[in-house]
This record gives sequence, structure tokens and C-alpha cells, in this order.
Amino acid sequence: MHAQGEPTETESMETRAVHGGERRPGPEGSVVYPIYQGTVYSVEPGTDYHDMQYIRLNSTPSQRYLHDKLAALEGAEAAVATASGMAAITTTLLSVLRAGDHVLASDCLYGGTHDFLTHHAGDLGLSYSFVDVNRPETWAAARTPRTRVFLVETITNPLMRVGRLREIADFARGAGLISVIDNTFATPVNFRPLLAGFDLCLHSATKYLGGHSDLVAGAVMGSAELIGQVRKTLNHFGGSLDPHTGFLLARGIKTLALRVRAQNGNAAALAGFLADHPQVAAVNYPGLASHPDHEHAAELLSGFGGMLSLRLRGGEAAAQALLDAVRLPYVAPSLGGVETLITRPTATSHAGMSAEDRERLGITADLIRVSCGIEGTEDLVADFDQALAKTQA
Ligand SMILES: Cc1ncc(COP(=O)(O)O)c(C=O)c1O
Repeated sequence: MHAQGEPTETESMETRAVHGGERRPGPEGSVVYPIYQGTVYSVEPGTDYHDMQYIRLNSTPSQRYLHDKLAALEGAEAAVATASGMAAITTTLLSVLRAGDHVLASDCLYGGTHDFLTHHAGDLGLSYSFVDVNRPETWAAARTPRTRVFLVETITNPLMRVGRLREIADFARGAGLISVIDNTFATPVNFRPLLAGFDLCLHSATKYLGGHSDLVAGAVMGSAELIGQVRKTLNHFGGSLDPHTGFLLARGIKTLALRVRAQNGNAAALAGFLADHPQVAAVNYPGLASHPDHEHAAELLSGFGGMLSLRLRGGEAAAQALLDAVRLPYVAPSLGGVETLITRPTATSHAGMSAEDRERLGITADLIRVSCGIEGTEDLVADFDQALAKTQA
């Protein structure tokens, strides 16, 4: 028997998002868990340093409530919240790596993660190799005796590639590596990494988990042992999450499944419309049969996500004209909010990447990325239709 309100493995993500991690009854009978803003709490004699209730030690009531909610969401034994997605990534890596260790990493990582490896790993005595996550035959050769971690993303930015995720988890397990996956783009609604065999799953909660483009946070989920290690490192490095932000994040999580299913639907409809449009040269969306990873993505994912990218026949000028002509989407980077966002990655998220790296990965100046919001599907498609008509003129 599970405790009242505690999710079971078979419960829908809708139910899990609402009830997972909730305290029943809540303090004073409250249905909504309150914000405990206090930084410090009375200590019993003999309490371990990491168990004292102090805000930077990620142990106050609001923080523990949020950790339980995050763990329930990914079906994890434990979770810890961080001050940003980048804090989740760097703290996780630095909690399992020691000087001299080596990281196998996807060659298509979020720019900040890529920059952390290329700009800082060397100074910390770490080395790394980038591998193609769709070519399992190349992974063993890239491994060294000091490889400790295999780091990947579920759906990559901005081409929406989906790696051989089960093979990655199996390869890591067989080689004694810790597999770490950034599940920000997919969310647990579309992919559950821990069920697929990954050791640690992390998020920029700034995106879909928060869901309203109004907070910055990160999260790491996994076994109690690994999360214990990450939390201790976080306690020392100091990237803890403030309870006010944690409250907003827990509130956002309750509607995660509803939002993500609406975003999946909007992206699928928009991708289909764009793929058939004469002015569109290419659409990158794993839900389209034309996508290079469609077949294995369909087996792995329960939804193809709310993100897509495209190129127009008119090149860079046409791309900019489309950004100027759309009425509903905001022209802005980031993703995962309720409002549709549109951006050109070479001008924003991938501006820091070298021209050669961008060229190698197919991130061209005319590429447009769309983060679908929860607007009405027909309104969104109609807006792109009118914008493309103007772009042609
Ligand atoms: C896939 C992915 N991971 C991590 C991050 C970093 O998250 P944050 O901005 O919350 O530090 C981002 C930010 O865009 C992202 O897209």
C-alpha cells in the first residue's frame, strides 16, 4: 500500500504531477504546501552537519518538500533542486568526477554545458571526448581507462536529434560509467530516463518544469546514494534554491503534464503544416517520418516534444523576415513556457559556438527554432501561415 497521495508506478503523469511528493495532511491542513522562508531551524544535539536544517544545506521544510515532488516526477529515489540548470549540470559533474577523470559527452550539447566542458574542464584536471550519440560503434574507442561519466541530452538543441538512449545507458552500465542525461527538452511526460537505465537525470527547471518563463532553477534526480553525493557537493558549492522560487516551481510542476501534452500537440501540428509549405526547405521535428531519428524516437518517447526548428528556402533574410512577421510568438531565446518563442540560434543560443562547430553540426544562419506554447493550435498555425505569406512578398 502506498501512502495517501504518494504516486504509484502506473499512475498517469497528470496525477503524478499534482499529487507526487505532496504532504497529506499539509501543515495546518493546508492543501498547498506553504513557503517556509526561515533560513535556520532548532537543532537536536548530535545532528550531522548535512542534516541540520539550514537553507544553504538544502534541508529546510520547503526544500525537502520540493525534492520529494521532483523525485516523484521522474520516479526517482531522491532529488535535489539547484539555483539554475547550469548549477545542476556543473554540481552533478563535479560530484562524481575527480582530477584526472574523463567524460564521454554528446557532440550536440546545450551551449552552456558545451562551454563548461571546453572552457573549464581542463583547468579542473578533467578531460572529455565528444561522441555521436547515434553511432554506438564509435563509443568504445572514445573511452579511456579514466572515463567516469557519459553525458547526453534526450532531445538535442536546435536540430532535435534523439540519440540511441537505451544503448547509451546499457553501454555506460557495462563499462562502469555513470550515465547522466539532461531531460530538459523532453520532460518526464515524454521520456523517463531512470526507467530506461540512466543513473542521473537532470533539468533546467527554468524551462518546462517551471513552465511560465518566470523562474530560474535546476533539478537532479537519481538513486538516494548518488543524489546524496550531489547534495553534499551542492552544500559546499552553494548553489541552493531559494524557497520562494521553489514554491513557484512546485506550482508549475502541478500543470506540467497538461502543458507538455498541449505543447506536443502544437509542435506536431505546426511541424506538419510547415513540412508541407512550399517556402519551407526543412523541418526538424522527431515526430515527422522524415526526421533521421524518427523510428527509434517513436520507440523511446511517449511524445515528441514542443520544440522544432526549420529552414526557409529564402535563407537568412527570409528567416529574419519570418521573425519580423509572426504575431503570436515572442522573438526570444529560452523555451518551455506557455507562450510560443521563436529565435535564430546562431544569433542567440549558439552565438558563442565557433563557426566550424556550427557548420559541422548543421546549425546554419538561416535556422529558426520554435518553442511551442499552449496557444490554440489553429491560431498558431494560422499565424505562421500569415507570416510566411508576408515573408514571400
Ligand atoms: C537543455 C538545457 N540544459 C540546461 C540549460 C541551462 O539551464 P539554466 O539556464 O536554467 O541554467 C539550458 C538552458 O537553456 C538548456 O536548454
